[in-house]
Amino acid sequence: MLAALKKYLLVPKLMRLSAGAPRDHHIAWDRFWSNVKTTGASGDVLWDSGSDHEMQGYVDRLRLHLDPGLPIVDIGCGNGSFTRQLAGHFPHAVGVDVSAHAVRRARAETAGLANISYAVADMTASGAGSGLLEELAVLDTGGQAGGGANVFIRGVLHVLGERDQHALAENARAITRANGRVFLAETNFRGNAVDYVTHLGATLRSIPAPLEGAIRGLPMPGRFGPKERSLAFPASRWELIEEGPTTIETMPLSNPARSDLIPGYFAVLEGRN
Ligand SMILES: C[S@@+](CC[C@H](N)C(=O)[O-])C[C@H]1O[C@@H](n2cnc3c(N)ncnc32)[C@H](O)[C@@H]1O
Repeated sequence: MLAALKKYLLVPKLMRLSAGAPRDHHIAWDRFWSNVKTTGASGDVLWDSGSDHEMQGYVDRLRLHLDPGLPIVDIGCGNGSFTRQLAGHFPHAVGVDVSAHAVRRARAETAGLANISYAVADMTASGAGSGLLEELAVLDTGGQAGGGANVFIRGVLHVLGERDQHALAENARAITRANGRVFLAETNFRGNAVDYVTHLGATLRSIPAPLEGAIRGLPMPGRFGPKERSLAFPASRWELIEEGPTTIETMPLSNPARSDLIPGYFAVLEGRN
């Protein structure tokens, strides 16, 4: 019992670390990305495992449910690690992120690869989805963007508040138009912030550096599961095609030899006309 409670001694440290995070989430994200020196398994970005293993687990569902002839928009693309993998399965992949530094890094990591482009946009802003679709239509996307595009979202909704989750879903709806669908995969960790950070290797003695960097600079993450999905993507606007548990893979944190695993949730959705 005492041992189980001991982890709560972390609370003052977590509060101290997170006290300096910018209150404006967009500033927080851009500052975070401006400080990133390296990505991948030994980099600074907690949620970038540097492996294609998680994506491989999504491929069958993407093939089953999404039109492979349409482009795909990766909302909240970060350094583009999933955008680049998506480009192998769709005619064109567009990564979009609110952080200009994230997009700069994504472009640098993508140099030399074809059928991928990036844009900076707040995807909770009114009209951002249709604006992006217009941009997409002028790109060489095989002439398919006019029919809408697919949307991929990984690890973005769980860092947004309820209103922003709904606004982002509405922008996704504008992108999908008649033929596109949404695939989302999010962290759905059952537990409080202390449980979450201890799950990712934080102890009273030390906190893995990439985890500490995220605590210091980023908005506190929440969870995104069926309940949150039904509010952001209500049944009046969306048909749920499939949902279920998945696993979000991070860079190695608690054990240098392997990725850490976070319980997650996936869903495939189609907008109603
Ligand atoms: C946890 S990271 C996930 C990055 C990427 N999807 C991945 O899995 O590697 C969340 C990303 O969402 C971006 N983001 C946060 N709010 C956003 C918004 N309103 N519009 C677009 N991107 C946003 C952040 O800048 C960050 O890159």
